[in-house]
Amino acid sequence: MHLIAGSSNPQLAEKIASLLKIKLTPVEIKKFADGETYTRVKHKVRGDDVFIFQTLSRPVNDHLMELLVMIDALKRASAGRINILSPYMAYSRQDRKVNSREPITAKLVADLISTAGANRIITVDFHADQLQGFYNIPVDHFVGYPQFAKYIKEKKYQNLVIVSPDIGGMKRANGLADLLGCSIAVIDKVRKEHNHSEILQVVGKVKGKTAVLIDDIIDTGGSISSTAVRIREEGAKEVIVCATHGLFSGDAYKRLNAAKVSKVLLLDTVPLNKKAKIKRLKVISLVSLWAKIIRRIHYHQSLGKLFTWENKRTSL
Ligand code: R5P
Repeated sequence: MHLIAGSSNPQLAEKIASLLKIKLTPVEIKKFADGETYTRVKHKVRGDDVFIFQTLSRPVNDHLMELLVMIDALKRASAGRINILSPYMAYSRQDRKVNSREPITAKLVADLISTAGANRIITVDFHADQLQGFYNIPVDHFVGYPQFAKYIKEKKYQNLVIVSPDIGGMKRANGLADLLGCSIAVIDKVRKEHNHSEILQVVGKVKGKTAVLIDDIIDTGGSISSTAVRIREEGAKEVIVCATHGLFSGDAYKRLNAAKVSKVLLLDTVPLNKKAKIKRLKVISLVSLWAKIIRRIHYHQSLGKLFTWENKRTSL
C-alpha cells in the first residue's frame, strides 16, 4: 500500500500515514518556469495499491492539475490500483446548466479524473449526492453531518432546530435533524448572481430555539452569515454554524464573526485559510476516518460498516 501526498495538505496526509503505520511514498512536485506542473513518484509502484491524498483547495486549478498528472504518472508506472482521496472536490457546485451556453464543470472534472486513470474516488459531501453518478468509477461518498451530530449531542445542546440556508441543503438538514431528533427550518432565497443571494423568508419555527445552521460550503460566508442574522431576528436564542468545507475566501471570516454565532463547527477537509481568524471555532478532524477507509479499501473490506449513522436515522 502506498499513500502519496499532493501539495494541498501534506501535513494531514502525514497524520493519516502515521495512523496507518506507513511512511508517505515520496513524490517530486515542481513547476516549470512557464508554470507547467511536473510530478514524479520516487518509488516503484508496479502492481501496488496506491492512494493519492489531494484535496481541491485553493489554488484549485493547480491542485487539480497536480492530481491529474500524478494519476497519469502512476498509470504509466503500472500501479495496480489508483485511489483518489479528495476530501473536498472543487467545482462540484457547477453541476448543471442554469443559463444557456454554460459548462457543467463538475462533470468535466469527473471525466478528467476518470480519463487520467483513477480507479476510485473517496470524498465527503459533494455539493449534491447525485454527483456520484458523474463518475464512471466507484465513488465512496461520505457525509459530514454525523460528525456534527456527535459533537452537538456530546455538548448537550437543547431545544434544537436545524436550519438549511437553501432548499438544496434540506436533505442534509433532515439527516442531521433525524440524528438529533428535532425539527427543521429552511431559508427561501434567490441567487441573482454568483456568490450573492437574497433571503425571501424563513420556513419553519425558530423562535426561542437553538438554531443549528448546516451547509456544505462556506465560501464568501454570505449565505451562512445572512442566514444567522435573519434567524436571530426571527427570535432564535442562539445560532450554531456547521459546515463541511470551510473555504473562507477573502473576508468571509469577518462576515461570520459579525454575525455573532455561538459556535462554528468545521471539518478539516481543506486547510484553513491562515488569515481567517474565526471566533468560537471547532474543527473536527476526519484523519482517523480516512485511515480506517484506506485500510478497509486496501483489504477489500466493506465500507458500509463505517456508515454507522445509516442505522440510526429514521428516514432516507
Ligand atoms: C450553495 O448552494 C452552497 O450550498 C453554499 O451555500 C454556498 O456555496 C456558500 O457560499 P457563500 O459562502 O459564498 O455564500
